[in-house]
Formats: sequence, C-alpha cells, structure tokens
Amino acid sequence: MKGIVLAGGAGTRLAPLTTAVSKQLMPVYNKPMIYYPLSTLMSAGIRDILIITTPDSQALFRRLLLDGSQVGCAFSYAVQEAPRGLADAFRVGRAFIGDDSVALILGDNIFFGYGLGRLLRSIREPDGGVIFAYRVRNPEDYGVVVFDAAGKAVDIIEKPRPAPSPYAVPGLYFYDNTVVDIAASLKPSARGELEITDVNRTYLQHGKLHVKVLGAGVAWLDTGSFDTLMKAAHFVEVLEARQGILVGSIEEVAYRMGYISAEELEKAALRYGKSAYGQMLLNLIQDPPLPL
Ligand code: TTP
Repeated sequence: MKGIVLAGGAGTRLAPLTTAVSKQLMPVYNKPMIYYPLSTLMSAGIRDILIITTPDSQALFRRLLLDGSQVGCAFSYAVQEAPRGLADAFRVGRAFIGDDSVALILGDNIFFGYGLGRLLRSIREPDGGVIFAYRVRNPEDYGVVVFDAAGKAVDIIEKPRPAPSPYAVPGLYFYDNTVVDIAASLKPSARGELEITDVNRTYLQHGKLHVKVLGAGVAWLDTGSFDTLMKAAHFVEVLEARQGILVGSIEEVAYRMGYISAEELEKAALRYGKSAYGQMLLNLIQDPPLPL
C-alpha cells in the first residue's frame, strides 16, 4: 500500500504565520507539523510515501525530510499547483499510486492513541474505502457521517449546518485503486474544490465504504487555526513531559517498526545536534521502547 501526505493548501486561517512558510512546517511543540501525519502513515506499515506541497515550499520539505531512507522509507515529492481540494491528491498522485491501494492523510492532522498503529495496519488491502468517524463538538466544520439506528453509515455530508450527527470524518482515508478513477471523474463542488466527501459518497453508493468509529482512546487534533495549533502543541508537550515518550516522531516510529537499526537511529538523531528532541531519540537506544 502507498501513502500520500497532502501538505499544500493556502493556510489562510494562520496568516501571517503562513504568509511566507507552509502551514505543515509550523512547529507543533518540538517538531514540524508534517512529522505527525508522516509518523501515522509509517506506523500503519506504509513506507512508500508521496508528499504533495505547494510549488514554493517543495524545496523546504525536501531539505527537512530528504529521500526518506534515514527513516527506512522512500519519500517522493509532487506539487499541487493550486489548492483544488483534497481529492485532487489522487490526480496529482496518479502515477505514484499506479495499481496499488493508497492511504491519504492531511498534513495538518494529528492522530495519537494506544493501539492506533495496530488498527491501521489491519487495513492493508481495503475492499473499497475505509474512513473513520470521530465525535467532535464542531462537526459542521467537517464531513459528517449519518448513521442509521443499527449503526450503519448511510450518508456523508460536507460541512452541514446544522450537523445531523456529532461524527466528523478525520483526515485519514484508505482506498483501493478505484479511487484514482473516482477522483478523475469528479467535478468541482460549489466552492470550487474536488471534495473528498464526494469520493466517500461514491464508495458509499456502491456499498463499498467502511466507516470505523475511532473511540475516546484515540486523539484526533487538527491544527489549522491559532487555537488548535496551540492546543496541539500543549497536548504533545504534556504527554512527552509526563511519560517521557515521543509523540509523532518519524525516527521513533521507524525504529519501533524495525525500519531502521539502532545505529541508523543514532545517525538520524545526531542530525539534530544538541536539540532535546535529538537527545530523546538517543535515549531510545538505551531504553528500548515497547513494540507499537
Ligand atoms: P484546509 O485546512 O482545509 O485548508 P488550508 O490548509 O488551505 O487552510 P485555510 O483553510 O486556513 O486556508 O486543508 C486541510 C489540509 O489539506 C491541510 O494540511 C492543507 C491540505 N490541502 C492541500 O494540500 N490542498 C488542497 O487543495 C486543500 C484544500 C488542502
């Protein structure tokens, strides 16, 4: 299975932070935002990953993330010329996806929780699409899932006001290869975007959409506004300080998943010089982590 991190967009809600720098390069406590979604894909067992950025920022992402071999992965890069919507990822990424299934994660979404990696690794070859539903206080800002009395997903509506249910669709989606053709045939919505909700509705109409409810044991944060960016940083700081663990570290996930050896982890850590983040990576070698 291949993976895509969608890290373009305009980031208008974060201006002037994002006037010169991509949102997904913003710090979330001690690492750039894109580390979090990347580490989520890696913990799902996905190592062949396309990073889609704006034309201006691609060089910066390359400088940060290199070719991925330092974390036992293969990173490639593609440009989205304009923010044409989330489903555009499958058009931009068509050649990269080839005949494979694909997971898409949004570059500003953070997932963290016990057992999440195991859950994601169980979705290796989806028959259709697999998406998630997560209870939030502001479902109207997202795609919203409508369930029937038996708990079966019967509809998905983009940013409905008022929202018919509290279950939002987080920015992590798994699809079989049909997604490439579905995305190719989409028409832009009224707001001019290729909507991921339309992709999901197509799968739903064909009886091929599986919606898994993510429980309270999993944190899903998005980081698109000043407020949520600050809250995400606090969340990471609190967990890391209290437990001495790392949240959203691509090097740690690579080591725990067996993508890199202790020597390779050391080399990756030394790239960060004297930073406390690099030090936490070095500590992992002395204090082997529990399996993911
Ligand atoms: P959004 O938060 O919906 O949009 P944005 O990042 O452009 O921000 P703003 O609303 O403040 O203008 O995007 C969600 C994620 O998807 C984010 O990581 C950026 C990415 N994205 C793209 O890469 N391309 C796109 O065409 C869109 C719409 C989003």
